[in-house]
Amino acid sequence: MNIGGTLIAGPAKGPLQGNVSVPGDKSMSHRSIMLGALAEGVTKIEGFLPGDDNFATAAMFEAMGAKVTWLNKDKTALEVQGVGLYGLKEPENVLDAGNSGTAARLITGILAGQDFHSVMVGDASLHSRPMSRVADPVRAMGAKVDGREGGNKMPLSIRGGKLKGMDFVSPVASAQVKSCVLLAGLFAEGDTSVTEPKATRDHTERMLPLFGQDVERVDAFTSRLKPCGKLTAPKDVVQIPADPSSATFFAVAASIVEGSDIVLNSIGINPRRDGWCRVMADMQADLTLEAENMVGAEPVADIRVKSTTLHGMTVNPNDIPDAIDEFPVLFVAAALSDGEFILNEAEELRVKESDRIATMATALKACGANIEEKEDGAVIQGQSCLKGGVTVDAHGDHRIAMAMAVAAQRMDVEIHIENAAAIATSFPSFVDLAQSIGMNVHWEN
Ligand code: S3P
Repeated sequence: MNIGGTLIAGPAKGPLQGNVSVPGDKSMSHRSIMLGALAEGVTKIEGFLPGDDNFATAAMFEAMGAKVTWLNKDKTALEVQGVGLYGLKEPENVLDAGNSGTAARLITGILAGQDFHSVMVGDASLHSRPMSRVADPVRAMGAKVDGREGGNKMPLSIRGGKLKGMDFVSPVASAQVKSCVLLAGLFAEGDTSVTEPKATRDHTERMLPLFGQDVERVDAFTSRLKPCGKLTAPKDVVQIPADPSSATFFAVAASIVEGSDIVLNSIGINPRRDGWCRVMADMQADLTLEAENMVGAEPVADIRVKSTTLHGMTVNPNDIPDAIDEFPVLFVAAALSDGEFILNEAEELRVKESDRIATMATALKACGANIEEKEDGAVIQGQSCLKGGVTVDAHGDHRIAMAMAVAAQRMDVEIHIENAAAIATSFPSFVDLAQSIGMNVHWEN
């Protein structure tokens, strides 16, 4: 686990200002490597997120024969020399997904279709997260998957083989589960469909057609894949838009620091990812979408955020998957609002990189927030400022570390945020960009 690394954050010394370009979307960066590796030909990718999670995905496919060539120093542009749908080779060593649940779960679907044996490991956080949600459906399609705790925990051992397509009804609203099953469906005999209880992010469904594989959107909850037998590298560069999950940290920071006015450039506004905008709009945040456009198969916009008084609200449960990664920082917005914020039916937050309900409640309470933990969410009574002068623990969870750095901007004195190094998994340039708009945050030493 990415343990270690202490951030010193807050309070903001003045209004936050400027234009900021956050890095590429993490979910799409993973998928671009996976599909590029399985395609025939060379896939060119731009806007890739140079985060540890995505490097883990790249390394796993390199270990199975795909070739990744970085085209710039920042590692935001690359070429993937694919091996074709049936060209992966058995890895000589264990595959390491690091901290990344997305890598582990999506790649389980791909490994399920391979005529070889593989073992996938991760860090301590990933080893604690449930895997039967993906192991069960690919087993039902014909793969052999085993792991600790009856096959629910990593390391996972996967012996793939001939798969049969199926109509899978997922008990959990999870894009990782849906994507795992659809990716396994690429290798299956017959069609594969996934039906979910709530609609989730659809980057897999949007990206597969760029590689020549259609996905039928039966309705908002069901996607169906009829395998066409091969993926082909797109002629055009695969462009990855800026990650809305990273943008939300700065949107909340600008909302809570008086006098702020920032523009977040070309942020992904896919309706399955813009739940944070809807929650913040309900909190009466001052957000304006400008210059709406398309980047590849995904809609984007510049988002202008000005500070304002935020208000409490009750989150619509149907919006939860669309904002699932943003709740740590939305809790910060709620703690600094003038009302009551209620979140129910969000038990999935307990199985992320950390138990995000518990880790955020503990950290915010240490700073004087009024937050009541619920089994499946939280009730937060907002207040006008938080108190600093304490040390909080990010528990090796990138989004907890960044959310608390945002909260600190509206405290009386600084806080220390321990075990924050995991920021490198999703947003390695967070501190630099935060400083560029005037946030008060730096690494210890
Ligand atoms: C992701 C799906 C979400 C999200 C994760 C990325 C994806 O997970 O939390 O950060 O890329 O498919 P779940 O599907 O488990 O909700």
